[in-house]
Amino acid sequence: MLITLYMLIASLTAAGFTGSEAAPPEHLVIPQPASIELGNSFLDISGSIRLSATESSPQMERVIVEVRSWLGEHSVRLGEEANAPHLKLVIDPEMASEAYQLKINSAGINLTGGTGAGLYYGLQTLRQLGWSNQNSRGIRLPTGVVDDHPSFSYRGMHLDVGRHMFPVDAIKQYIDMLARYKMNRFHWHLTEDQGWRIEIKKYPKLQEVSAYRKETLVGHYNDQPHQFDGKRYGGYYTQEEVKEVVAYARDRFITVIPEIELPGHAQAAVAAYPELGCTDEPVEVATKWGVFEHIYCPNEKTFQFLEDVLTEVMALFPSRYIHIGGDEAPKTQWEHSDQAQSVIRREGLADEHELQSYFIRRIETFLNDNGRSLIGWDEILEGGLAPNATVMSWRGEEGGIAAAKQGHDVIMTPTTYCYLDYYQSTHPDEPLAIGGFLPLEKVYGYHPVPEELSEEEAKHILGAQGNIWTEYIPTVEKLHYMAYPRMQALAEVVWTPRDQKDLQRFVHRLDGHYAHFDKWGIRAANHLYDAQVAISNQEGSELQIVAGNLVGKGEIRYDFSEDNSTQEQMYRGPFRPKSGTYTFQSYRDNEMIGRPASITYEDHLAVGQTMTLKHAPHPKYNGMQPQVILNGVVGSDERYGDSEWIGLEGDDFDAEITWEKPVAPSSVQLRFYHSPGQWIYAPREARFYVWSKTTKSWKLVTETTVEATNEKISTVTFSIPKVKKNTRFRLEIPNYGTIPEGAQGAGHGAWLFVDEVRIR
Ligand code: ACM
Repeated sequence: MLITLYMLIASLTAAGFTGSEAAPPEHLVIPQPASIELGNSFLDISGSIRLSATESSPQMERVIVEVRSWLGEHSVRLGEEANAPHLKLVIDPEMASEAYQLKINSAGINLTGGTGAGLYYGLQTLRQLGWSNQNSRGIRLPTGVVDDHPSFSYRGMHLDVGRHMFPVDAIKQYIDMLARYKMNRFHWHLTEDQGWRIEIKKYPKLQEVSAYRKETLVGHYNDQPHQFDGKRYGGYYTQEEVKEVVAYARDRFITVIPEIELPGHAQAAVAAYPELGCTDEPVEVATKWGVFEHIYCPNEKTFQFLEDVLTEVMALFPSRYIHIGGDEAPKTQWEHSDQAQSVIRREGLADEHELQSYFIRRIETFLNDNGRSLIGWDEILEGGLAPNATVMSWRGEEGGIAAAKQGHDVIMTPTTYCYLDYYQSTHPDEPLAIGGFLPLEKVYGYHPVPEELSEEEAKHILGAQGNIWTEYIPTVEKLHYMAYPRMQALAEVVWTPRDQKDLQRFVHRLDGHYAHFDKWGIRAANHLYDAQVAISNQEGSELQIVAGNLVGKGEIRYDFSEDNSTQEQMYRGPFRPKSGTYTFQSYRDNEMIGRPASITYEDHLAVGQTMTLKHAPHPKYNGMQPQVILNGVVGSDERYGDSEWIGLEGDDFDAEITWEKPVAPSSVQLRFYHSPGQWIYAPREARFYVWSKTTKSWKLVTETTVEATNEKISTVTFSIPKVKKNTRFRLEIPNYGTIPEGAQGAGHGAWLFVDEVRIR
C-alpha cells in the first residue's frame, strides 16, 4: 500500500493549506542546488555575449553546443563586443567531477565545473534561473552564487522497450529530459519475453523472429479471461540507431547502460533459437505479461550465444557497466533438464540457485575480461554473488543492504519508491497501470541510503534509479504521463542534499515547470491541484475530515450530498463530518483546477472506537494505523493498496473493539478483497463475540460464512441477535489458509484484506 492515511494527512498538513497564495518561490531550479544565494539585481543579456573557455576539448565542445542552444532559444548571439556581458567557462580539475560553481553579476557569468559534466549542469541551472524573470527577448538572470554538486554519482532512469517500444526520437526526448534534470544514467532494457529490441548481426533470427509477437494482451493481466488484440507488434533498434542514441546521450553527459536479460525473460530469444532453451518444446514470443518458464539453458551453445551478443553490445555501448538482468528466472525447466542437472553435477553445485549463480559468474568473467562490469537485479544474490557484481535492489531494499554489507556496490530501485509504472493517484479516472500506488510525494520522500548501513557500507550505495516497465505504456503520451513529474522528484532525491529537500518548495517550483513541459512537447501528469481528502482518525484526537491539494495553493470548496442546497462551501480547515458524501474541488482565481475528490462517510457505531488486533497487518498495508478500518470510510473497489484497507499476510483478523459507553449492536457489515492472482483470498467465515464478565471469556454471538465469487469484493452483512449492552466485542475472521496447488503463490499463506468494519 502505498499511501498511508498518515502520509496523506502529513502531506496535506505540510502543504499548510490555508486557502491563500503562498509566496512565489525565489527560483524554479530542480533539482534544488546544494547552495544557492540570489541577490536582488539582475543580469540582462540581449544581443550578444562574449564566450571564453579554458580549454578546447571534446567535453568543452559539447558544453559549447549546449551554450549555443540555450542562447539561440533567446535570440542571443556569441559576439566580441567589449560591452557585452561575458560567459566564462572554466574546467577546474580540483573540483569534484560533476560539481559546478556559478557566479552571476552585472558584468556576466563565471561558470566553473570539475569536468564538462559540471559545466553542463551549471548550464541547466542557468536555463532554469532564467525562467523566473522571462523577457520576451534576451535572458534575465538574478545575480548570485550557486555552489552545487550531486549527492549521488548514479542518477538513473530506466526504460523497458521490450513490452512496448518507442521511436528513436522519443528515446532522445527522454534523454533530453534526463539531461535537463541532471540525471546521468539511462538504463535501456532491451530484451524481454515479449520482444528482442537490439539488432545483433550474428543472429538474424533475433530480428526476424524475436523482435515480433503475434498479438498483445488487451486490458489488465488480472482481467479474466485474457483477451488479445490480434495485431502483430514489434520492431527493433538497428545498430546505427543504437549508436545514434548512445552519442546523443554522451553529448548530454549521460551514459547508456544496456540490459540484456539472462537467464530469464528470454522467451523471445528462445522462440527464435530453441536450442538455447532446456526443452524441445517450440515456444512463441510472449503475448502477455508475467514471468515465463522458457529461460536459457546453461549449456555451451547458450554461453557462446550470449558472449557473441555481448561482444556486439560492448562494441556499441562504451558504458563500463553492462546490465545482465538476472531477475525472475523460474527454475522449473532446469529442475527437469538433463543438461542443467549435468552442469550442477559437473560443477559440484548444491541446487538450481547455485546454478544461476554459476551462470552469472561465467558472464561476469567474460565481461570483466573485456574491461566491463556487471550489474544485475537483486536475485543475483541468490546462490552467491558474482565477485565484482553491482546489485540493483528492486524487491525492496533488503537485497541492496545485503550486497552493501558484502562490500558490493548497489543501485537502489525499490518498487515502493522507484517504480514509475505504478499508479500515481487513486482518482477513478487514472489511466490503467500495473498496480501499486506511488504518488509524487512518496517518490520525493525517498532516501536511497538505508539506516541499517554503517557509514562505510553506505558508501556502496551509488544512487537510485526510476524504473519504467511498459506493459501498460503503449504510447509516448502515456510514457510522458508516467515518467513526469515523478522523474523530477527522483532527480531531487539523488541530487539535492537531504537536509535541503522540502516537499512544499519542490512542488511550488515544479508548478513553474509545466509551461516548459508544454514547450518541449511533454505531456506530463499533473496531480498538483487535484483535491485530496482523508479522514484523520488518530488515536486521542477527534475524528476529522481533512482536505487540501499537494501544491497548497488556491482555495478548496466542497459540497455535501445531504445538504438540500447545492451551494458550495469554502473549506477553511478540518471539521467533524456527518454521514454523506463530500466532494472537494480546488479553485484558482475562481476557476476550477485539478480533479475533484469525494469521500463517503458513514457515522456508524464503531467509528473512532478503540481496536486491538491480535496480529498486526503488514506495515505496507496500514500496519501502522489499522484504525483506518474504523473511520467511517470504505476502501477502493479497485485498489486494495489504498489508505482504507488493511492487509494481513497469512494471519487471521482477530480484533477486540471496545467502547467507552456500552452499546448493543444489531448488525456487522464487512468487505473483503478477493484476487487470487495477487495471492489475496476472501476468508471462509467470520465470528462475532461479546465479552462475558461472569465467565471472563468470549461468548459467541453469531457467525456467518463468506461466499467468494469472481468479484473482487466480497461483502457480508450479518445481523446480531439481541445482545445486552456491553463495552467489549470481538470479531474473528480466520485467514483463508494456504494457497492451493496450481494457483499463483501456491503453498504461501493467503493475504487477507479487510476494509471498514461497519457496526450498526
Ligand atoms: C523487475 O522488476 N523484474 C526487475
